[in-house]
Amino acid sequence: MESTTQGKFYIQTFGCQMNERDSETLAGMLTDLGYGPCGDKAEADVVILNTCSVRENADKRFFGILGQLKKYREERSDMVVAVCGCMMQQQHVIDTLKAKYPWVDLVFGTHNIHQFPQLFQNVVQERRKIVEIWEDGGAIVEGLPAKHLYDFKAFVNIMYGCNNFCTYCIVPYTRGRERSRRPEEIVEEAKRLARSGVKEITLLGQNVNSYGVSRYEGGYCAADEKGPDFAGLLYLLNEIEGIERIRFMTSHPKDLSDRLIGAFADCEKLCRHIHLPVQSGSTEVLRRMNRRYTREQYLELVSRLKDAVPDIALTTDIIVGFPGETEAQFEDTLDLARKVEYDSAFTFLYSVRKGTPAEKYGDQVPEEVKHQRFNRLVDVIHGIQAVKNKACEGRIEKVLVEGPSKTDPRTLGGRNDANKTVNFSGPRELTGQIVDVRITEGKTFSLWGEVAGRPSPCPQKGSKSGPAPGKEGEHE
Ligand code: 5AD
Ligand code: SF4
Repeated sequence: MESTTQGKFYIQTFGCQMNERDSETLAGMLTDLGYGPCGDKAEADVVILNTCSVRENADKRFFGILGQLKKYREERSDMVVAVCGCMMQQQHVIDTLKAKYPWVDLVFGTHNIHQFPQLFQNVVQERRKIVEIWEDGGAIVEGLPAKHLYDFKAFVNIMYGCNNFCTYCIVPYTRGRERSRRPEEIVEEAKRLARSGVKEITLLGQNVNSYGVSRYEGGYCAADEKGPDFAGLLYLLNEIEGIERIRFMTSHPKDLSDRLIGAFADCEKLCRHIHLPVQSGSTEVLRRMNRRYTREQYLELVSRLKDAVPDIALTTDIIVGFPGETEAQFEDTLDLARKVEYDSAFTFLYSVRKGTPAEKYGDQVPEEVKHQRFNRLVDVIHGIQAVKNKACEGRIEKVLVEGPSKTDPRTLGGRNDANKTVNFSGPRELTGQIVDVRITEGKTFSLWGEVAGRPSPCPQKGSKSGPAPGKEGEHE
């Protein structure tokens, strides 16, 4: 049982899985300090907003929610409002907070999360406002607590930061340069999770394919010390008893190695799904995005993946309306989506980000053109998705059960190998187990089925893939 001697906390997370994982660390730290979670910010003694700056709408939502918090904060002088995450790494955001939201108690960034307990206690004990932002990531701090959302699946960071500088993207500026965690730390964490009952781990990094290429924390290079690259790390993790599924997010196409494709064949715990953001189907747009691959190279990579792993599920991110994108270039994107036959895709309207090279590009696409293209792309993606889901009917899928549906407690929901939601009838006791489910109906956004057999203790090698989204906001 949790002790909630100090009060209740509420954490709202915007953006990607990196942020979700950071929020789990913050929840772990608050739990260690004697606080317990609550589901309503109005009742919380501590509210943390963990922000995202990848697109402008997340910025706007953040300021909207912060505005709502003002009245609670004014009513309760003992409440603490803290804000953190990527937005805090931008000076113009800090300036706005200071000018318009001076009542916010604590502001910290992506590089000093480990300082949170100390900063927070200083705020509480001294009742003073603290703004503490670090410019760049120094040493990776290991051994921080974490309170995971689920008992049976968990995120594991393997690297931080990004060196790619895609011209539209703010991440290299807010998350700093690439740093890889040492392999032994990652393996140890995965073993610890397995001992605590976790069956599925998702390895996180902005570009997991360059794991170990960047310097490991502690200052040695893979090349110098022959440490594992990303594929090597997968082989190590595949050996851990108790871990039954391994996923990863996200891969940059330019760094996807043959060794990684080989790992899909060799590692039976590796889910047959890859999220491979393409961003655009036009070589010219890709060049101006600084993606460093062509349309043809991407298609070639996809065909190599499909040849090596015939049932692999492919998902992607696509940006519509990048500056200068012509109708013909947009149609190249539609064409590429049809050729790849994505299982699902995250589609984004291009959003100007302060400080990125594309901010300065003159030929911005008009909003109504962007929206019209966006709708056309979504229609194409949904059409492909519906066909692929239909094709899953009759298959038996291994589903890691997440629990009963909120609206109907007799319906269980879980994820198949391809990370696609599968719904079926069953007792809540199946939560956390991997169950064989026969798919009876493939809808556009989910699969429906019935239990096909007893819960299976073994990993899902050879399971047929359905379609596959994750959550908005991954990077590669
Ligand atoms: N505008 C729109 N989408 C963006 N992304 C990143 N930056 C921007 C931007 N400025 C998308 C990319 C990336 C995903 C996480 O967010 O598709 O892969
Ligand atoms: Fe890095 Fe991905 Fe952003 Fe490109 S889109 S800069 S690879 S985080």
